[in-house]
Amino acid sequence: MTYKVAVAKGDGVGPEVVDSAMSVLDKVSSVFEFEIEYREVLVGGAAYDRMGTPLPKETLDMVKDSDSVLFGAVGGSKWDNLPHESRPEKAILGLRKTLDAYSNLRPGILYPQLKDASPLKNHIVEKGFDICVVRELVGGIYFGRKRTWEGESGEMAEDVEGYSRSEIERIARKAFQLAQLRRRKVTSVDKANVLHTSRLWRKVVQEVHGEYPEVDLEHMYIDNACMQVVRDPSQFDVILTSNIFGDILSDEISMLTGSIGLLPSASMGDGKKGIYEPIHGSAPDLAGKDRVNPIGTILSAGMMLEHSFGEIEAARSIEYAIKKVFEEKYHTEDVFMEDGKLVGTKEITRLIAMNIEKGTN
Ligand code: IPM
Ligand code: MN
Repeated sequence: MTYKVAVAKGDGVGPEVVDSAMSVLDKVSSVFEFEIEYREVLVGGAAYDRMGTPLPKETLDMVKDSDSVLFGAVGGSKWDNLPHESRPEKAILGLRKTLDAYSNLRPGILYPQLKDASPLKNHIVEKGFDICVVRELVGGIYFGRKRTWEGESGEMAEDVEGYSRSEIERIARKAFQLAQLRRRKVTSVDKANVLHTSRLWRKVVQEVHGEYPEVDLEHMYIDNACMQVVRDPSQFDVILTSNIFGDILSDEISMLTGSIGLLPSASMGDGKKGIYEPIHGSAPDLAGKDRVNPIGTILSAGMMLEHSFGEIEAARSIEYAIKKVFEEKYHTEDVFMEDGKLVGTKEITRLIAMNIEKGTN
């Protein structure tokens, strides 16, 4: 079996974390006997500098011909003043839209070995937590009408948040289906006390829930949700939310696990093709220093094996290898704890690859 993977490294730490994920994938594919054909494509600022656009046609063509996309990160101050359509972020937003990857899974799990790296107090994290944010990814304010204009009393700008019933229905189904495989609880997060879009969101989620009576549904306002995840993250199973609320909430949850560098993501539509990327950004200040935590990207590669290729055992072996490395107290600096052994990007990658083996799930 040969899987075709488009590799979009991007900017900042993107190339380093993607190289790490590829070297772990190389080990996994040799142990589990499948092939991966990597096809490197240009995205983000790197693509803008070479081709004058953050998402060149060549990249899109290659992505269309591939089974999935492994994505690093895009952006940097160098490109901050470009017009909206040329900004590096356009690459990831355009890819998500082109593939209609509306369902974004962002699992935030507390590894018991990293308990002390969490900023939460011990009595809160000792119960552990395992949350999966299901973020709508191709609608809402990210993709609504945007404009800046000269108003009567000076400059004005607006970004329109809009959701259709069908956009809400399809992401709600994904959340309920995921909850069926987990602890059967969905918390739908909105701002229905203020926003029309949220009121439609709540109504439609409520209706779709009728198809999944075995799953518990609760609704929560976004401000309360931001507070509740810090007060007691163990109360959550699946969090279903809109594009912008999911963006914010997933960064917050990532920090509770110890570091944003740990969180992977999978973005898919109705087919098997997906975009797999860490939830962190390009962190230009860390780039090229062997300091960035590659685990979010390595786990994203694991999600690719599971969700796009159905290589479940291979995916589990990656999670196992990471746990093993934590048990042996190897830490990158972002999750470094007193009694740990501080290692860089390359060394943690080597250790994870070394621990990949069969029969671990
Ligand atoms: C993320 C990122 C992106 C987003 C940016 C880079 C456009 O923050 O994947 O969370 O806002 O979706
Ligand atoms: Mn984000």
